[in-house]
Amino acid sequence: MTTVLVTGGAGFIGANLVHHLLAHSPAPLIVVDKMTYAANPRTLDSWNGDRRVTFVQADIGDANAMAELFAAHRPGAIYNLAAETHVDRSIDSPEPFIRTNIVGTSVLLDVARRHWMTLETSERAAFRFLHISTDEVYGSLGASGLFSETTSYAPNSPYSASKAGADHLVRAYFHTYGLPTLVTNCSNNYGPFQHPEKLIPLFITNALQDQPLPLYGDGLQARDWLYVDDHADAISTVLDRGERGAVYNVAAGSERTNRAVTEAILRDVGRPWTLVRQVEDRLAHDRRYAMDGSRLRALGWQPQVSFDDGIARTVDWYRTHEDWWTSLRGDDWAAYYQDQYGRRLAHSVEA
Ligand code: NAD
Ligand code: TYD
Repeated sequence: MTTVLVTGGAGFIGANLVHHLLAHSPAPLIVVDKMTYAANPRTLDSWNGDRRVTFVQADIGDANAMAELFAAHRPGAIYNLAAETHVDRSIDSPEPFIRTNIVGTSVLLDVARRHWMTLETSERAAFRFLHISTDEVYGSLGASGLFSETTSYAPNSPYSASKAGADHLVRAYFHTYGLPTLVTNCSNNYGPFQHPEKLIPLFITNALQDQPLPLYGDGLQARDWLYVDDHADAISTVLDRGERGAVYNVAAGSERTNRAVTEAILRDVGRPWTLVRQVEDRLAHDRRYAMDGSRLRALGWQPQVSFDDGIARTVDWYRTHEDWWTSLRGDDWAAYYQDQYGRRLAHSVEA
């Protein structure tokens, strides 16, 4: 049976993917994660000691550690999710984004290529390297239009630029060496296990604690929100049925402005709009993301969870897993929050 490697498996989407794979396949899973600030050790407990999961704490940019891991476990399929992911942090400090998202991905690709070359013909043909990316690589849209898989890349933040660099390397490994790669570019995710620095869990957890909700700028920026289990299903569909070397956009078809998202959260948490503060905007804030997802839908995938249902499930999860998120709100969080929001909130107005 094929051993599956999930990098970044202690993070938000990685953890949900591990749950999804355990529920749908008997395959052994190797979960690799560096356990940065973004990973919560409590997430690892959520697999309840399932014997199919082997956890390895390692950096995808550590060539020796990756080579040892490939030699020991001989994976036949890789989901590469390990990354630095928060746009605001990339604006303050781009370097870790370059190091993990570009250099780390290039190290992992090269170790994967060397391993792939040692496989027998049938194993080489079945091998897959699926790189998980974002719609943010395409830049920003105006009020209308959609990105497609052929839209030129135009990243605007250090985060999206670093993801774009990684996507290009993955493409080059397919064209240059024939490594069987795939790339998925997904819209914004939400759901259980997401770090409360991101919009939806930040606003849910702040609202639960009657803290202000800092809405950037006019709050009319739009994102296409996908429930995370639907993303897990999308990427396992692409790994199983996608064409080698191809790119697939993963679109929810559930576009909402940040104001509309905020309204839905406040409704489900049961708090008033007066908690919302309009604060200074993010630098180079992309106005709108939306994609044509028909290529992936032709493989038979479609989202199962509506936005209203997904938000209700997510609010319920954060309400009932307070230990999980309060464990992330230690001194580091207080320093980050003060740095990111202290001045913004001091100059805020009711939205
Ligand atoms: P996350 O920040 O919650 O998790 C990332 C995980 O990667 C963390 O557990 C972290 O410890 C780990 N990691 C970081 N650097 C590492 C390194 N050098 N080696 C090994 N592990 C490392 O992020 P997420 O939201 O789960 O995103 C996962 C992937 O999906 C990322 O590649 C991201 O770009 C992509 N993506 C995310 C979204 C979204 O809305 N969250 C949308 C589209 C694409
Ligand atoms: P985020 O969750 O950081 O995802 P991304 O920037 O990758 O889309 O932010 C989603 C949207 O919410 C984005 O338009 C920025 C906005 N936002 C706020 O208005 N306030 C906040 O405190 C945060 C974290 C984000």
